[in-house]
Amino acid sequence: MSKQTSEGWSSKLGVIMAVAGSAVGLGNFLRFPGLVADKETGGGAFLIAYFISLLIVGLPVCWIEWTLGRFGGSKGFNSSPGIFHAVLARPWGKYLGLLGFIVPVGVYFYYVVIESWCLGYAWTSFTGGLDLGRDAAAYAAHFNAFTGMKGDGSILGLNGPFVFFIGVFVLNFVIIYRGLSKGIEFICNWGMPLLILIALVLLARVLTLGTPDPAKPELSVWNGLGYMWNPDDVLGGLAKPAVWLKASSQVFFTLSVGFGVIISYASYLKRDDDVVLSGLTATSANEFCEVGLGGMITVPAAYAFLGASAVAGGTFALGFNVLPQVFAGMPYGHLFGGLFFTLLFIAAITSSLSMLQPGIAFLEEGLGLDRRGSVTFLGLVTAVGCTLVMWFSKDLKALETVDFWIGDVGIFLQGTILVYVFNLGFGFERGWTEAHRGAEVGIPGLFRPIIRWIAPVYLTGIFLMFMLKNVAGWNLSFTEPRFTPTGQVLDLVGGPGREASGVAQLTAVFLVVFVAFTVLLIRRAGERWSQR
Ligand code: PHE
Repeated sequence: MSKQTSEGWSSKLGVIMAVAGSAVGLGNFLRFPGLVADKETGGGAFLIAYFISLLIVGLPVCWIEWTLGRFGGSKGFNSSPGIFHAVLARPWGKYLGLLGFIVPVGVYFYYVVIESWCLGYAWTSFTGGLDLGRDAAAYAAHFNAFTGMKGDGSILGLNGPFVFFIGVFVLNFVIIYRGLSKGIEFICNWGMPLLILIALVLLARVLTLGTPDPAKPELSVWNGLGYMWNPDDVLGGLAKPAVWLKASSQVFFTLSVGFGVIISYASYLKRDDDVVLSGLTATSANEFCEVGLGGMITVPAAYAFLGASAVAGGTFALGFNVLPQVFAGMPYGHLFGGLFFTLLFIAAITSSLSMLQPGIAFLEEGLGLDRRGSVTFLGLVTAVGCTLVMWFSKDLKALETVDFWIGDVGIFLQGTILVYVFNLGFGFERGWTEAHRGAEVGIPGLFRPIIRWIAPVYLTGIFLMFMLKNVAGWNLSFTEPRFTPTGQVLDLVGGPGREASGVAQLTAVFLVVFVAFTVLLIRRAGERWSQR
């Protein structure tokens, strides 16, 4: 039984919009500015490492995903385990696709929670409830209450934040249920232009802020841009491994590469549809939104109003504490604030949808579920994961732990596996030819050695350093938790100077069960596929 799914993209532009919609997300408007503004590992050195990582791993792994995905799709598979099964044609091949299910679903556990904060903040801002005066502590208190940071389980119940969460969670599944072109593609076709429009309005507002407080002429928007973009101590920065680690993990995160998302989206292409130019276009759109919009809005605005110290407090603090203060200080601030959080929400939902699709595809083709069954099944799994993240909300512990193991360790592993599978399993020359089938432009020859040698060596090296630091507990001072509201890394195994907390261990048990469960599902799927 070879079942080619009837699903597909309705146009060439549609798939590019969907991939760009996946890529452009909170990573562009919250995470990237937070990383660049961080004086320890940010600034000019970070940007250089970022662009190099974009060239040597971001684009290559992106093209690999598009190529292998379209190939797997031509064999009738749409999920990572299925596509790996088709690409590797070995009994163990499908298990290498495990992370292509685990990672997007696991990231969804917390991403959708943050997405609901964005909608909640947009609402509160538009309705005037976010103007809390000039007292910085009031904004922090609001954020703590909204996210449940003050105590475990404090937001489950019939209150504002939880209602927003339920609404956003259900909305995602309603859209997914409508299918690829009527759901995801439709939302991205409308959402992406709207998002860019809002971002341009905000950018114009920020760039015309000038010097908000005439008594402090040094606090201008231009100095804010300088603070963020002027290179200082580039060589010193580039010598720090942490800078490379952060830069490359940001590249993966922002491009949605190494998640199993693009490979699944690309599997719905036709055999001769272009992948080279499409991959490049989606990547460029993401970079425009990241560097050109995300990097120009938040930090300069915060700097102009509140100075350098306000900018350096971490990603969440910047977005949810500092910026509301900034908006409160400008005319029509509730409108601009509302627009900003609406922008975040649109960016986030087009991304969270893309985290569900690989799971849906796997449940349908692996277990033979229909759409209703797969949506229900995935809804239950993610409801459990989200509940965990939301219940253990004190200091956002569970969120950061899942983010670390899935969003950091998981994507690196998956990116590395993809490169090896392409080079060794599929065969580099065959893969290169496959990528160029139907291609509208050629991949520059420079990328041959990059894909073949440089990317695998770079990824393996970074991954080893990463494991040494984080799992073996070596103090090479690499990572900060990604969203750092509280500045604590959670460690599941303990280690020198760090304590494993109960929540972290519980989360670890949950993740292990989740992985084991997925292995079983893949085994079941394998039985079906061997009868094809
Ligand atoms: N790329 C998205 C962002 O920048 C995040 C994302 C990760 C989306 C994984 C899909 C899959 O926010």
